[in-house]
Amino acid sequence: MTLTIPCLFGLESLVADELKRLGLQNVRAENGRVHCDGGPADIPRLNINLRCGARVLLELASFPAPDFEALFQGVAAIPWEDYIPRDGEFPVKGYSISSQLHSVPACQAIVKKAAATRLGRIYGCETLPETGDRYQIQFALIKDTATVYLDTSGDGLYKRGYRAHNNGAPLRETLAAALVLLSRFRGKDPFCDPFCGSGTIPIEAALIAKNRAPGLDRRFAAQKWQSLPARLWLDAAEEAMDKEFHGQYDIWGGDIDPACVELSRHNAELAGVEDCVRFEAADAGQFRRDSAYGQLVTNPPYGERLLEKREAEALYRAFGKAARTLPEGWRLVVLSSHTEFERAFGRSAEKKRKLYNGMLKCDAFFYHGGGNN
Ligand SMILES: C[S@@+](CC[C@H](N)C(=O)[O-])C[C@H]1O[C@@H](n2cnc3c(N)ncnc32)[C@H](O)[C@@H]1O
Repeated sequence: MTLTIPCLFGLESLVADELKRLGLQNVRAENGRVHCDGGPADIPRLNINLRCGARVLLELASFPAPDFEALFQGVAAIPWEDYIPRDGEFPVKGYSISSQLHSVPACQAIVKKAAATRLGRIYGCETLPETGDRYQIQFALIKDTATVYLDTSGDGLYKRGYRAHNNGAPLRETLAAALVLLSRFRGKDPFCDPFCGSGTIPIEAALIAKNRAPGLDRRFAAQKWQSLPARLWLDAAEEAMDKEFHGQYDIWGGDIDPACVELSRHNAELAGVEDCVRFEAADAGQFRRDSAYGQLVTNPPYGERLLEKREAEALYRAFGKAARTLPEGWRLVVLSSHTEFERAFGRSAEKKRKLYNGMLKCDAFFYHGGGNN
């Protein structure tokens, strides 16, 4: 089977690496998604283990669809009854790029009608009740080729289950994990996030340090699929738990707002990593560390309006000054959408990487500690 993992733009190569590490074959990355070949057992494995992917889609068919008739026939040929039971709810969503069938609502209606016609015929009912579990159908029409998927994840994989509340400007867990991986933190050195907000980055760092699979504490849509034996989910969870480390870690999050510190502690408890992360109320402008090595990964406030932008720049200046006191062995990754970040921070980045925080275009700026004072 072909499995497709959509992801935030900029994370494709990290997702591809994750898939290869999990032993998946024929991994192909393209803009915003990564494909691979796998078997039924890989559906639970990917859902439970992936840190940077948005969801896991099972590809059901791919065929030329230059007109509605071709789209209808291609969808009606899919053996939907193998997946969707008589009472299953099957909403449809999708998108169209560079295709003659460009009206997404019209394509949605055709896909729905084709699946419903087939299921109605096989289950012997004119109207399907759709009162049961949800089976989300997705389609992508690209250059007149339709690809039809069933979503195996349900809630997006960024929903790990530990962040019941946030501080209003949270980072997607998948992006936080990506930043930690880009910093090359593996649990050995001290790790700090001086603008921790609801604690997402330190919590993802702790999960990575412990090699704890991020999806062990939540449920997935395909867990209800009768076509997928329940044993596969248990095997995947066991395999993931066997790989966990139990060590000593030095992971720290700071925020000037004591309410954020409380929230971060609460979220760390929900994530089961409270034993290896510390949170403190602290001003990032006063951030100091003596250890020769470490990783600092953070996303300071961006400032969206003009006045806030100026405040953000003053904050970057103070933080830049603090960062220059760090020993050279420190690696820094700072995520910001502020166009003047480097100027305010006081140093050009050694490397930059374009990323998207949801729809917001950002840069990850890479530095080492030290620098000209
Ligand atoms: C964009 S949010 C961080 C969001 C975080 N990554 C998360 O996922 O929840 C920026 C945070 O910086 C904090 N902050 C603002 N000024 C600060 C300062 N001088 N020192 C430390 N934290 C500060 C804010 O309270 C806010 O929680």
